[in-house]
Amino acid sequence: MSAQNNPLKENPAQNKNGRAGWFQTSSADCADVRKANGSPWRLVLLGAPGVGKGTQADLLDQRLHACHLSTGDLFRAASKQKECDQSPAMKAAMDHMRRGELVPDATVWEMVRERTDCIRCSSGFVLDGFPRTLGQAESLKQLMESEKIPLSAVVNYELPLAEIVARLSGRRTCEKCKAVYHVTGQPPKVEGVCDRCGGRLFQREDDRPESITVRMAAYERSTAPLIQFYKSLGLLVSITATGSPDEICARTISALETRTKIAV
Ligand code: AP5
Repeated sequence: MSAQNNPLKENPAQNKNGRAGWFQTSSADCADVRKANGSPWRLVLLGAPGVGKGTQADLLDQRLHACHLSTGDLFRAASKQKECDQSPAMKAAMDHMRRGELVPDATVWEMVRERTDCIRCSSGFVLDGFPRTLGQAESLKQLMESEKIPLSAVVNYELPLAEIVARLSGRRTCEKCKAVYHVTGQPPKVEGVCDRCGGRLFQREDDRPESITVRMAAYERSTAPLIQFYKSLGLLVSITATGSPDEICARTISALETRTKIAV
């Protein structure tokens, strides 16, 4: 992606975490490689659309110093490219996304594979929104085995459907730094303006009711089976996603630490 079309690159003040490197493919240097204390955390976050994976990935990024890597962010950034710069596969991916459907595995894998350096990064990573199908999970497993990089854990966030829909319908996202707000739960100080960078807040196209229904069905059909997949690999950590984002993050870290102590 060119700097011109890269929303994070346009605003160097926001280029402070590994998300910038993730946006620019593996040829880019990570803007802020922070060395983790001890072994780096390499996490996958699972859970239905709107459960709060992105919010938790941001908090875990700050607290565990592992970069937040979101495939949804990659596709949203790609959708800002001029149409003539988009490949046919990417145009098709944008159509899937607008309707709330999953992007085909081959397109997703191409984008992730181009960023293998982010997976190798010594700071670790928090994968948000990937893998989302058994095929993607198998591809990730093979890549990590060939790189001899073990996953630390897979965190599965659980929340009743009614609360998920309320979270999604009130979500607002910063067009520049991707910070996420909620109109009532986590409002910005000034309505419509990002607290972090002053960017404009917008409502995602796929947060319309008709797309939400399609996304939930895609989750049940394609992503929920990953819970059993990772359980059978002994990696699954289930977390109740009720309470404030800070409470959920503390619950996550405590569960991860307990798991690490047991494994030692
Ligand atoms: P993606 O961006 O990954 O969307 P998603 O999985 O649907 O997840 P969301 O971003 O909607 O929700 P979230 O769980 O991150 O919740 P958030 O923290 O924002 O993917 C979008 C699309 O891209 C897909 O539909 C697909 O088309 C495509 N795609 C991406 N990856 C793909 C892949 N691997 N394969 C195929 N296709 C792929 O929180 C939601 C709201 O709740 C916010 O307003 C937030 O402020 C609020 N909130 C969060 N926590 C709390 C809390 N504790 N209390 C109250 N409110 C809270």
